[in-house]
Amino acid sequence: MARFWVCAVAAVFSLAFLILHSCYCGPPMFRNFVFVNRWTTEKPLYRLDLDWPKYSEMFTGTPFCVAVDSPNGLVYVAQRGDNIPKMLVLSEDGHLLRAWNYTVDTPHGMFAASTPYEQTVWITDVGSDFMMLWLHGESGTGPTHFNIPHSVTLDSTGRVWVADRGNKRIQMFDKVTGEWLGMWDDCFTEEGPSSVRFTADGKYVFFAQLNLSRLSFVAAPPAGSVGRCSVVSTIQLADQVSPHLVDVDRKTGAIYVAEIGAKQVQKYVPLSSSSSSLGS
Ligand SMILES: *[C@@H]1O[C@H](CO)[C@@H](O)[C@H](O)[C@H]1NC(C)=O
Ligand SMILES: *[C@@H]1O[C@H](CO)[C@@H](O)[C@H](O)[C@H]1NC(C)=O
Repeated sequence: MARFWVCAVAAVFSLAFLILHSCYCGPPMFRNFVFVNRWTTEKPLYRLDLDWPKYSEMFTGTPFCVAVDSPNGLVYVAQRGDNIPKMLVLSEDGHLLRAWNYTVDTPHGMFAASTPYEQTVWITDVGSDFMMLWLHGESGTGPTHFNIPHSVTLDSTGRVWVADRGNKRIQMFDKVTGEWLGMWDDCFTEEGPSSVRFTADGKYVFFAQLNLSRLSFVAAPPAGSVGRCSVVSTIQLADQVSPHLVDVDRKTGAIYVAEIGAKQVQKYVPLSSSSSSLGS
């Protein structure tokens, strides 16, 4: 009997080792464990693209943010550090196209506003004011107040989603009137969101939690009331990877994650057409 248990325990450990080993691959220390479905009820939506970037050494500093110029298939990465190019421009398939470091000092956030005819990227430098809140810019904890509003995005129904990190919640507003539409705080008892985005098909809203090193996906609520926050899928990154800001390629559905702990940007691609690009 005792031998049975030893064997059973050994078998479980070997299996665990194999799983860990097969997930923990790739360059330096920080290729992620991709425990996409930690709970049986969760469904995996994305997988890590191990082919992006082509050379992980291209991140010579600490990437704080990433912005996808979907019309032109470009991925902008802004990194902090000394004597390095602050801005890198990569192709969707992971090649470094350009780098520059003039005009950028200590990048924090970034937003690509390109058209097929003109390439524009907005970069926020720490020190200059990050948030352009047209509505209620007040600091505090009540509805419409903010404490470190850290990321903002729009959905297709005209709602503005603000990751109110210090208050451990996401607040939603009407894009036109600025009316407060609600908030999600039930997902953030441990830590507030540092980033918020929609998947390219609009089916999920997802957010990054820096210290938990986690991305979580919630079904996007239909127009109107936002209801409660209920996570349907997660991507658990390795400890101290620290995902800061994320962005989505509207064309391919890929998600890019700027990781300040791991000092890299990683790309996740949809596992099926259900979470991929427009109109699927
Ligand atoms: C700008 O980047 C180059 C490398 O591309 C580097 O040699 C130079 O030191 C950088 N300058 C600053 C001020 O970071
Ligand atoms: C993450 O942890 C650090 C160190 O404990 C803390 O200073 C920081 O406020 C935390 N960040 C968030 C977003 O909770």
